[in-house]
Amino acid sequence: MAFALRSIIALGGLHFALSNPIQTPKDPCAVIGGQTWVSPKDVRACYTSVRLDPIIKANILEVITKTLAFHASLNYQIQAPPPYNDDVQEDLMTDLARINATDYALEYDFHLALSRATKRLNDGHAVWVNACYVSMFVNFIPLPLNLLPDDRGNQDVHIAHEAFEVVSAEFPDQIDFWQDALPGNFRGQLESLSGAKVLAINGRPPFDEVNANAAISGGYQALGTRQNAFFSSYRRLSEGWTYLLGDFAQKSLPLDDQVELTVIRVNRTSPETITVPYRSRIGPTATPFNDTASWRSGNCVAKPGTNGRNIYAPGEPPPETSSVESFEQQPAIGQASKMHAVHVMLHDTPLSTVLLPEHLQPTLTPLPGSYGAAQFHMLDNKTGIIVLGSLSDKSYDNFMSGLYHGLLSLKSAGGTQLLIDVTNNGGGFVCATSYLHRIIAGPKSTTEPQALLDKRIRVGPLAKELGRVFSAGGDPAMLMLFNPLRLSGADSQPLKNGTNWLDPSFDVIVNGRPDSFSQVLSKECPLGNYPYPFPPPDEALFDTKKVVIIGNGKCASACSLFLVTMGKHEGVRNVVVGGKKDVKQQYCGAVGGQASHFTAKLKNHPLAPPDLLVDGVQGIVWRLGIGIDNPGEPEEWQDHLADLNLPLTRELVNNPLAIWKEVTRRMLN
Ligand SMILES: *[C@@H]1O[C@H](CO)[C@@H](O)[C@H](O)[C@H]1NC(C)=O
Ligand SMILES: *[C@@H]1O[C@H](CO)[C@@H](O)[C@H](O)[C@H]1NC(C)=O
Ligand SMILES: *[C@@H]1O[C@H](CO)[C@@H](O)[C@H](O)[C@H]1NC(C)=O
Ligand SMILES: *[C@@H]1O[C@H](CO)[C@@H](O)[C@H](O)[C@H]1NC(C)=O
Ligand SMILES: *[C@@H]1O[C@H](CO)[C@@H](O)[C@H](O)[C@H]1NC(C)=O
Repeated sequence: MAFALRSIIALGGLHFALSNPIQTPKDPCAVIGGQTWVSPKDVRACYTSVRLDPIIKANILEVITKTLAFHASLNYQIQAPPPYNDDVQEDLMTDLARINATDYALEYDFHLALSRATKRLNDGHAVWVNACYVSMFVNFIPLPLNLLPDDRGNQDVHIAHEAFEVVSAEFPDQIDFWQDALPGNFRGQLESLSGAKVLAINGRPPFDEVNANAAISGGYQALGTRQNAFFSSYRRLSEGWTYLLGDFAQKSLPLDDQVELTVIRVNRTSPETITVPYRSRIGPTATPFNDTASWRSGNCVAKPGTNGRNIYAPGEPPPETSSVESFEQQPAIGQASKMHAVHVMLHDTPLSTVLLPEHLQPTLTPLPGSYGAAQFHMLDNKTGIIVLGSLSDKSYDNFMSGLYHGLLSLKSAGGTQLLIDVTNNGGGFVCATSYLHRIIAGPKSTTEPQALLDKRIRVGPLAKELGRVFSAGGDPAMLMLFNPLRLSGADSQPLKNGTNWLDPSFDVIVNGRPDSFSQVLSKECPLGNYPYPFPPPDEALFDTKKVVIIGNGKCASACSLFLVTMGKHEGVRNVVVGGKKDVKQQYCGAVGGQASHFTAKLKNHPLAPPDLLVDGVQGIVWRLGIGIDNPGEPEEWQDHLADLNLPLTRELVNNPLAIWKEVTRRMLN
């Protein structure tokens, strides 16, 4: 069975608006084919030209439904327990039955319905992505926003002060279009909008728009985190510091043609109203096309890597990348490092390639051990900084040894306290979490044999079959993550060869629905076959009372495992930077326990999802971490409240170094 799947498209009939019977009908996808920049309207005209083929509809629904039988949070998400009771209320199976029973003329409308339904889970592990529509074109407006206080501390939405600088560097080939599109006196004056206070968006108070977006943005349980996604922010990635434009300025689907803003520009007093168009840029993962046929064949049908494959099939090399990897929120992982377990978010926007303006980039020297998304610096004589934009990078070995050497560098440079910046960290290698925690906190009951949550796997009928395959020696080369020989039970001892560890399972009732979970699984890092590159030091390198973690709430998966165990076991304090003052800020979300995609020998089982016909992905989380404060419930649904909610100011916003200094002043010195 394969969790990442896709397939062949029987091209649905096209329908054209024939305005002039003398002209031959224009292919609406030829209008945008081969172009870099187009209008969202033209993208929609292409997307909405394809009728929904009933075979495609049935295939996608069957794959999603059968895949979700493994999604561990499914029944919890019908009505999440407090503190997320107002945030997650999605009965996805009922919703999918409704979608199945609805007639959609257009494939695009069907896609929108599926995308919205899965995003209502507010769980970045469990989204539906279809590469035919998602990020084929990315839709931009040159006005990233942020939330800043006025003289009395009231928070207002502003166009980012750095807006023009960022967009003119990123969109040099489109900035003139926007300059010319501005109305009246504003023509050519895009720069004068930077820093402007926003009084209304489309005639409504700005937070109406922020909350409307939070209702469909998905990803995180907590409202505060989804609100924050509307605004611009930063993230350290492999190549350097990137700038996230935020959900207002960047959208994965061509939903809007323009936006009307009422603003007060800097140093002015009277409100002005302007309309600014969205523009669509060809996505970084799109296969170039020039008409409907080539759009469909290049982007809308299953490819090698869409569906699972038999890893024991002779002579079949693995595809370069699986489709799911294009949507994982982490740097691309090299082929040699792919056997290591990752726990990471999916999202329908690719990683940002927009650069953080140079004057906002930290100027501190990187210390030895710095590698890709993980950077080590000294802020002053005693404060070490660890930047963790991801818990993964191209090479697992380099990343892990970088963590070890980086921490030793901080220690030998005189570091006695630590700031760890995880802003926008979507997860990564599970064992990086455990290793980092163990090196910082030293050997103790919470770090030995590993510093991760124990967890249980959701067990449906097909999972029991999978357990039977493993117990019958179905994975002799131990290539699969869920081979019992690669797992440990509650006693941290390896599971016994030959037993079906998924049977018996333990029945529970979740939101009135019968459900079932496996025995407790524990130690998985370091894995027997893959020990840590260097044995962790015998003593704690840092006093965890002098460790503070900084983020914007957007920390998920492996990142959440790190923050939750450091916070709840070691008393490490968490700071959420940004956010609306009267909204509680959770320091992480989408804890999960493991999101995976793999293949076993059950391809022809009636409960196994068939191969997908389209180039799509349905994510899931199969295991749920057991709660620390309340071990009777998954950690997923427990509180992760920040110790300090630090509102942004003009000096701090999108300026990592200024934030580190401010947090050090408030929390450490
Ligand atoms: C969708 O509805 C059809 C017709 O009732 C049914 O045969 C099919 O099994 C349903 N698909 C899913 C995935 O439930
Ligand atoms: C606004 O006024 C201040 C103070 O006079 C000045 O320093 C600043 O450059 C002005 N900014 C703009 C965008 O006009
Ligand atoms: C589309 O592009 C391909 C490859 O560049 C080319 O072979 C083909 O002729 C083009 N088709 C059209 C309709 O322009
Ligand atoms: C930090 O170290 C530098 C160079 O060793 C020294 O000049 C400075 O006084 C130190 N500062 C503090 C606050 O200890
Ligand atoms: C596990 O059991 C199978 C037989 O079911 C055997 O072939 C295999 O070598 C065993 N593996 C280990 C590591 O003991």
